[in-house]
Amino acid sequence: MTASIIDGKAFAARLRAQVTEQVARLASGPGLIPGLAVVLVGEDPASEVYVRSKGRQTVEVGMRSFEHKLAAEVPEAELLALIDRLNADDAVHGILVQLPLPKHINAEKVINRIDPGKDVDGFHILNVGLLGTGQKAMVPCTPLGCLMMLRDHLGDLSGLEAVVVGRSNIVGKPMAQLLLGESCTVTIAHSRTRDLPAVCRRADILIAAVGRPEMITGDFVKPGATVIDVGINRITRDGGTRLVGDVEFASAAGVAGAITPVPGGVGPMTIACLLANTLTAACRGNGLPEPEGLTA
Ligand code: GUN
Repeated sequence: MTASIIDGKAFAARLRAQVTEQVARLASGPGLIPGLAVVLVGEDPASEVYVRSKGRQTVEVGMRSFEHKLAAEVPEAELLALIDRLNADDAVHGILVQLPLPKHINAEKVINRIDPGKDVDGFHILNVGLLGTGQKAMVPCTPLGCLMMLRDHLGDLSGLEAVVVGRSNIVGKPMAQLLLGESCTVTIAHSRTRDLPAVCRRADILIAAVGRPEMITGDFVKPGATVIDVGINRITRDGGTRLVGDVEFASAAGVAGAITPVPGGVGPMTIACLLANTLTAACRGNGLPEPEGLTA
């Protein structure tokens, strides 16, 4: 069997087009322009690339982008004061603090200072609790993007066996909550799981979010399964560097029914979902009906 490819790049482009249309409608109707503030502390090159890309795409869909770059040594109190100002700013509907933060800053404290209604990452403890109890929340962008692709590809997910490999707060745990919300039978596997290949082979839906290059090979995959690869790993091989996922693509694609590539799978969906979340936050924050199909 050769798997069909789930094209995240094309899906993300469609989602951005939907967001663009809704943003134009808000601007011409209630006169509301959604705004996203991104806060970057320090000079991590990978984070700078992400933040630039977020800013560009925010403007492309017709929203306002506010970038705040702070020195790596910024005192925690100063970062908290910036968040207070952004919370109080009516032009800002979404706030994202790029992670990781420098060690002298308590990331949990910073995240929980964000107004939960503006928490477009869905990392605030209130949103985590809302998602965990099946209530309306801001949903973390990467798992939301995975869910959208799964629904698009498989339709109703009810009753399917889902295995999520990875238990991070950013991907693994919220992904499991979302799949539970879709009535999947969910297993969260991780580095201590015994006989990981056998556990993974139970999965109709296999989500790889471990951060280890090409760890999930074809022998982890049940024939016909849908494989979502969240990993983005830069590796050096044959004298050059390239991006690979957590899944060994060639062997997994020989067994799976459908698979996301890296690059061009989950990655583009994450920023598209951030834009969707910003639009959702702007609508909720202003008591306007939220567009359909943009959240969980
Ligand atoms: N760093 C890596 N992934 C993310 C993410 O989804 N949100 C934020 N804020 N920082 C990140």
